[in-house]
Amino acid sequence: EQTRKRLVIGNWKMHGQLTGNASLLDGLRTGAPAVSGCDLSVCVPFPYLDQARASLQDSVISWGAQDVSTHEQGAFTGEVSAGMLADFACQWVLVGHSERRTLHGETDRLVAAKANAALQAGLTPVVCVGETLAEQEAGKTEDVIARQLAPVLALGAQQVGRMVLAYEPVWAIGTGRTATPEQAQAVHAYIRSQLTGLGVPEVRVLYGGSVKASNAASLFAMPDIDGALVGGASLVAEEFLRIAAA
Ligand code: G3P
Repeated sequence: EQTRKRLVIGNWKMHGQLTGNASLLDGLRTGAPAVSGCDLSVCVPFPYLDQARASLQDSVISWGAQDVSTHEQGAFTGEVSAGMLADFACQWVLVGHSERRTLHGETDRLVAAKANAALQAGLTPVVCVGETLAEQEAGKTEDVIARQLAPVLALGAQQVGRMVLAYEPVWAIGTGRTATPEQAQAVHAYIRSQLTGLGVPEVRVLYGGSVKASNAASLFAMPDIDGALVGGASLVAEEFLRIAAA
């Protein structure tokens, strides 16, 4: 019996500008009411948070950011605090996306600290985990996920119970190569067992990595996949809404 409400989040990454965003947001706002039974959200680049808020505030779609500082304020040039995101009525913030881990050297501990900072400001962190192709081929997927999750789970049930997790195998991100539903389900079941062990089995676990309208339904049919974190396909309103409809 599925009690966890489905959630589909678009991760725009570093895409978009004012004009294009306006029509994308417009398309989402107009089309979203037809999609029921799932929470819908977009995580946009920092400069466009206010645009997202203005466009979506009277809609069923929520919005969020793609990263957050662990610090509340101070001399941290270029950083954005969770309090600042809360100022723009963000509901979510992605933390530990593989692109941040790989390209910006984010460690497992830093990611956990970011998740904690988000919670302190009343935001829901979407904590991303996932293995590389080499790790998968070496049969290390569960070890990697366990290592990435350890400092997050150490924050305790009360904190973790207010989070969302996302499993994004690095080899499936932006490659067009999706994990099969069975492959993804196996890892989701492992993550669920960790959550159950902590006493928070109801935490939602999203799948991410080349999710499209054409493969969403088969992924969502899996018992431990509670929705999706969508990159490329979230940049086209109709495609993103078709994923949510699935
Ligand atoms: O966070 C979403 C993500 O990394 C997946 O990207 O383009 O493969 O859907 P994409």
